[in-house]
This record gives sequence, structure tokens and C-alpha cells, in this order.
Amino acid sequence: MPDRTNRQFRLAARPAGLPKPTDWELTTESVPAPREGEVLIQVLYVSIDPAMRHWMNEGRSYTEPVQIGDVMRAGTVGCVIESRNRNFRVGDCVVGGQGVQLFAISSGRGLRKVDPALAPLPAYLGGLGVTGLTAFFGLLEVGRARAGDTVVVSAAAGAVGSVVGQLAKIGGSRAVGIAGGRDKCAYLLDIGFDAAIDYKSENVEQALDEHCPHGIDVYFDNVGGDILDSALAQLARGARVVLCGAISQYNLTTAVRGPTNYLSLLFSRARMEGFVTSDYKERYEAAIQKLARWRAEGRLQLREDIVDGLEAFPETLLRLFRGENTGKLMLKVAEV
Ligand SMILES: NC(=O)c1ccc[n+]([C@@H]2O[C@H](COP(=O)([O-])OP(=O)(O)OC[C@H]3O[C@@H](n4cnc5c(N)ncnc54)[C@H](OP(=O)(O)O)[C@@H]3O)[C@@H](O)[C@H]2O)c1
Repeated sequence: MPDRTNRQFRLAARPAGLPKPTDWELTTESVPAPREGEVLIQVLYVSIDPAMRHWMNEGRSYTEPVQIGDVMRAGTVGCVIESRNRNFRVGDCVVGGQGVQLFAISSGRGLRKVDPALAPLPAYLGGLGVTGLTAFFGLLEVGRARAGDTVVVSAAAGAVGSVVGQLAKIGGSRAVGIAGGRDKCAYLLDIGFDAAIDYKSENVEQALDEHCPHGIDVYFDNVGGDILDSALAQLARGARVVLCGAISQYNLTTAVRGPTNYLSLLFSRARMEGFVTSDYKERYEAAIQKLARWRAEGRLQLREDIVDGLEAFPETLLRLFRGENTGKLMLKVAEV
């Protein structure tokens, strides 16, 4: 009989600034049996996302905060190991929000079956999961990218950004990525970006001027702060600024900094619009089919950055804010 002891990371305190080890409690519990209508899931991979930092805060957001003492919310891929729900069978692979833990009971609500024959399971947390869908709907619906556009994306070597640039290329746009460091910039050129800007060693505004001679038609913002201001300074007429995230602001203990160059929106007759990916839930399946086809055709390269073991969770989360990940960051918490 395999070990069925559950272990969980629970929120112990609301962090000020970067989360500290004392903001977490690692708890151990026995695994309950599912009741009628429920399934027991063994979690295999846990998604590590910048949004986790929001969920740890109290206050207004697009979703409820995680409460002190709760298992930390997280997207997961897992496997049904017991079922008393007729929609799921033992052995089904499922994506859901089972949190940072090894096992979870679910009523089936919010669970989606995924096909391991179509793509390896980690892809369903990355390019064929929420981050890929964020790139898809953010670029094509909110950004309305068209052939011939110049698309610029920040945090370009990350989970969302790396897909944004590749989707821009698939749609006939020019893709310019902004990322931290030489290796990440080399990776961007490798997966087909037309140009890469290292914001740690280059003047971003000058580099954007050089790489976007006709201005930026779509700026897909993942970071906010100075980089957002540099991009706003280079907008083309009628540009769309997609407000996807602002990771440079998530751990500030002072007020979030708004865009200084916002009058550029006026001069450029431009639009800046925020969005939340889950608003597109009804259209996920169709988008995943497209993303999977591009992946199978070799037009969309997905990279995962996988860290072993549940215990690594607190340190792994910090890797996002230190820029230590390339591609989709996740934890592998069980042998597949
Ligand atoms: N709107 C939505 O529904 C939605 C859904 C999913 C994700 N998001 C947002 O999308 C963005 C990207 O998420 P992801 O999961 O793909 O993460 P990611 O890009 O894989 O990882 C985060 C990256 O951000 C960069 N970064 C960290 N601190 C930075 C700073 N101070 N200034 C500039 N860059 C910084 C780092 O790359 P470098 O080494 O290049 O600095 C890091 O690797 C986040 O803002 C996230 O909140 C939004």
C-alpha cells in the first residue's frame, strides 16, 4: 500500500514584502475516504504562480484571499485514485485547484479531465493551461494582435510571456521580448522572437526605439513599473496595452506605482485594458485544442521549470520574484 499521508502548506501569516518561511505552516493529516459524489485525487504537479502573492493579501482583488490556516490555493494536475462520482474514473488525469498538498478530496466541481496522450501532464499547467490561455486571450482578444503588428511583451521568458511571443509570430506579428539576462534573451531568439531586450543591462526605452521603428502596436505587460513606462513612451497610433500583471509591484510595502507616461495613451489614441483569464472559461477547450495543435506542429515550444518535492514550495515561490525561472514554474510532488 503506497503512503497515503497528506502534507499541506497552509498560510500562517499575511506577508509584508516577500513571503518568509514563517508565513507558512507545513501540516500532516491522514487522507479521508471520498464520500458519495466525491473523488480522491493524488496531486502530481503544483503550479507556482505570481498570483499566489495576491491571494495571500487581504483586501480587494479579483478573487477571495486565502484565509489564515487554509491550504494554500494553487492550480494542480493530478490523478483520480478513488472515485464515488460517476463522472470520474480511477486513473483519470485532472486539472483543478487542489492547492499545495499531496492529496485532495473533490466534489468534481472545477475539475477538468486532460488527455496525457495529447501532451505531457506538466503542459496542462503551462502552455496548455492557465498561463497559455492567459497569453492566448490576452494577446488575441484584449490585445487584438493582427498580422503586421509589432508586439512587445515583458517577462518574456516566463510562462505567459514566452507563449505571447510565439503566438504573435504564429499570427504574423513581429515579436519583441523584454527579459532579465543574457541567457533568457538567447532563449527568446531561440524560440522565434525577432528581438530580445535585456532590461538588466540595456536602456529599455532606447532598445524599444531601435527594435520597434514604427512604434509598438500591442504591449503585453506582465511587470508594470519602469518597463511599462518605457513601453508607453513608444506606442504606435491606436496601440493596445494589455494589463496582464505587474510582478514588479507585488511585494512592495509602499503604494503600487502607477504609469507615469500615461498621457502617451492620449497622444497615441491608445487603449489600456486589464483582464482576468478565468472570464474566458467557456472558451478554454477550443483554445486548448488550438494551442495543442500548434505545439504538435512544432510552432509552439513549451518549456517547464520543474522543482522536486512539496517541501520546496516556499523557496520555489520566491524564484518567480528573483527571476530564477525560465518557462512555467511548478513543483512535482509525486512520482508519475
Ligand atoms: N491576468 C491574468 O488573468 C493573469 C493570469 C496569469 C498570470 N498573470 C500575470 O502574468 C505575469 C507573468 O506570470 P507567469 O506565471 O508567466 O510568471 P513568469 O513570467 O513565469 O515568472 C515571473 C517572471 O517575472 C520577472 N520578474 C520578476 N520580478 C520582476 C521585476 N521586479 N521586474 C521585471 N521583471 C520581473 C522574472 O523574469 P526576468 O528574469 O525576466 O525578470 C520572472 O521570471 C504575472 O504578472 C502574473 O501575475 C495574469
